[in-house]
Amino acid sequence: MQPAHNMNPRCLRAGKTGILVLTFLVAAVATALVTWVLIQMFTRKQEERVPFVRVAELNEISVDPEPWGRNWPHHFDGWKSTAGDKFYGGSSAMPESKLDLQPWLKRLYAGYAFSIDYRKARGHAYMLYDQGVTERVTKKPQAGACLHCHGSTTVLYRKVGLEAMGEDADDEALAADFNMEAVQKGFEEVSTKSYEEVLGMLKQMPDGTPDENEPVFPPAPVGGFEGEFAGQPVPEDHPTGGEAHPVTCIDCHDPETMAIRVTRPGFINGIQALAEGDAPAPHLPSIDKWRKGSRSKPYDPNRDATRQELRSFVCGQCHVEYYCANKMTLTFPWKNGLRMEDEEKTWEETTFPDGTEFYDYIHGETGAKIDKVQHPEFELWSQGIHARSGVSCADCHMPYQRVGAAKFSSHNVRSPLENVNASCQNCHHQSETELVSRVEGIQERNQALLERAGEAMTQMLDAILEAKAAGATDEDLKEIFDLQRKSMWRLDYISSENSKGFHASQEAARILAESIDYSRQAEVAALRYRAPEAPSTEEIEVEGVVGVTPEEPPAEAADDKPADAEAEEDGESDTDTGDEGEREGS
Ligand code: HEC
Ligand code: HEC
Ligand code: HEC
Ligand code: HEC
Ligand code: HEC
Repeated sequence: MQPAHNMNPRCLRAGKTGILVLTFLVAAVATALVTWVLIQMFTRKQEERVPFVRVAELNEISVDPEPWGRNWPHHFDGWKSTAGDKFYGGSSAMPESKLDLQPWLKRLYAGYAFSIDYRKARGHAYMLYDQGVTERVTKKPQAGACLHCHGSTTVLYRKVGLEAMGEDADDEALAADFNMEAVQKGFEEVSTKSYEEVLGMLKQMPDGTPDENEPVFPPAPVGGFEGEFAGQPVPEDHPTGGEAHPVTCIDCHDPETMAIRVTRPGFINGIQALAEGDAPAPHLPSIDKWRKGSRSKPYDPNRDATRQELRSFVCGQCHVEYYCANKMTLTFPWKNGLRMEDEEKTWEETTFPDGTEFYDYIHGETGAKIDKVQHPEFELWSQGIHARSGVSCADCHMPYQRVGAAKFSSHNVRSPLENVNASCQNCHHQSETELVSRVEGIQERNQALLERAGEAMTQMLDAILEAKAAGATDEDLKEIFDLQRKSMWRLDYISSENSKGFHASQEAARILAESIDYSRQAEVAALRYRAPEAPSTEEIEVEGVVGVTPEEPPAEAADDKPADAEAEEDGESDTDTGDEGEREGS
């Protein structure tokens, strides 16, 4: 290449050509480089986007996950793995009873179905089965709304809704689109029906593969382990014949675009109420944005929420506190906010549609009206540092994993401690042992406080029973019942939350501390009813309260010693200061 400063004309021409050639070359190299970078980025993106061939066509009645599985076999495998290495059915395979592990739970739930049968949860594969066999369902009448969170119910709600609205509800219409208005309508329609009736309807719904294959997970024996058909097949024409599925692909994904979405009316109503209220929700920026906007349409998570929010919202459709029985449609109590006392306040303000007082059960020992708490994972997570840092449920419970070049979200939804590397270590650079021990540290402290709160609760109940035995009436005990309700609500809140304090450790400790306080307040107040009249304390000799830095030295001490020196000595020697006046005055 000729240097351009050569002034010889021939050379100058050559120089000009040189510049042109140089420019051309630089441009060519730059273009090639940019193209290479783009290609690299694109292929990386493509790899990360999970290459797949749509072999099966899906639509809005594709409830059976099997055809989805042909398109996304890794996701399908993960989903199936929530059953463990195989599906374990039968009464001997049921998870441990929480009532046996923590006997005070029986007293907490005295008078309520939970005191009959309450077990540890297990993977999503079991949700429909375990609900079908719990004695809470087989021995007590339950609401159809129980299925909102235990079955794939979107098509059921939509079909019933379309019919109620007088619109087409055949398979073609159902397959065509997801009509949230119809879903809401159907949800309301079935909410007053019984569990058995709605389960029967669910099994009759089209699932995209009628009679083609068995459902992936076996159905629960009709009527439970001791029911009518225990140990034998249910007759073909029995209303409970047919297929139903636990939460499946269609409940969290749009079958056309695969975008994640929420489908459960309980959540949509709850989050709308939250948005319309004024409780701060700093971890959910889209709510703030909606509040500041025109508000011409109600907050709609599928339109307004960020993708990161949706990665928690899909779980918040079920892992929440709720009311679910026949007196009112399934409700998430979020209008005053997501904190424990916000939910408590919402229930206190609620009355049933027939005008009667809201409560879940009458306590079997004392007669107080109690509100039961259910698994508030979404709410407790909302109070923690991870939510505030923008970390979603899916980040920890459905972490990215790699199989070959493909990177995808694990659909084996389970404890993150099963895979700390994928769940935690992309953010935290401590060792796995260290991270596990941090979690265990939080959980052990939580457990210790929980046991104390359980004990305080039982001692409160004993004291209230003794007060009753001593003649206290329900009217006398009104305020004590309020304290009982508050203490139990707080205890149940953390006991029912499944992270054992991890989702928001300080908040969990605060709530348990309040529970202990309310139990003890109730206990002290109740004991007054059985104690004889309080004796006078006038005659008891006590040390006068002198304070740490008295403004003036106490009279009799002033002559020989400095006041604080005397206070120190007196603390040990228990002598009489004889200063009545000072005691009353301070
Ligand atoms: C808002 C969603 C939702 C509704 C409504 C709901 N559940 Fe659940 N259920 C869950 C979640 C989440 C779990 C897992 C967490 C847990 O067990 O604490 C669960 C766990 C269970 C379990 C297994 C553990 C146990 O409690 O023994 C049973 C059985 C059960 N539910 C029965 C019912 C019944 C009966 C109803 C209706 C009264 C009902 N569920 C309504 C969300 C729901
Ligand atoms: C349609 C309701 C529903 C949705 C949506 C849902 N869950 Fe669940 N989940 C349940 C029920 C019900 C159970 C308990 C099943 C049982 O015990 O039979 C459960 C169990 C679990 C368990 C196992 C609990 C244990 O003790 O082993 C984890 C972990 C979990 N869910 C996390 C999540 C996360 C994270 C999401 C969101 C990505 C999510 N769930 C979405 C209803 C739901
Ligand atoms: C920062 C990580 C993280 C986030 C975010 C998170 N969790 Fe968890 N979760 C955990 C850990 C850790 C445990 C305790 C697991 C254990 O004890 O085995 C847990 C426990 C649970 C359990 C009980 C699981 C079991 O095996 O007993 C459920 C259910 C659950 N989380 C649901 C949720 C939901 C729903 C959300 C979002 C609203 C959420 N989690 C957000 C880390 C997280
Ligand atoms: C409880 C809700 C839930 C269910 C049920 C569910 N998914 Fe997902 N899925 C998610 C979430 C959350 C993501 C992450 C989405 C995101 O980050 O945009 C996801 C992502 C995906 C993706 C995108 C690529 C990836 O891995 O991030 C595919 C494909 C997918 N799921 C397939 C399936 C299939 C197939 C099924 C049924 C066998 C299924 N999902 C069931 C919640 C669910
Ligand atoms: C997406 C990133 C991310 C993931 C995934 C994540 N964390 Fe965190 N974690 C954070 C951030 C951010 C903080 C807050 C740090 C701060 O602001 O000081 C935090 C804080 C913590 C704390 C301190 C909590 C407290 O109450 O003070 C613990 C313990 C913790 N994480 C454990 C875990 C464990 C265990 C997992 C896996 C189950 C996990 N984290 C997953 C980002 C993450």
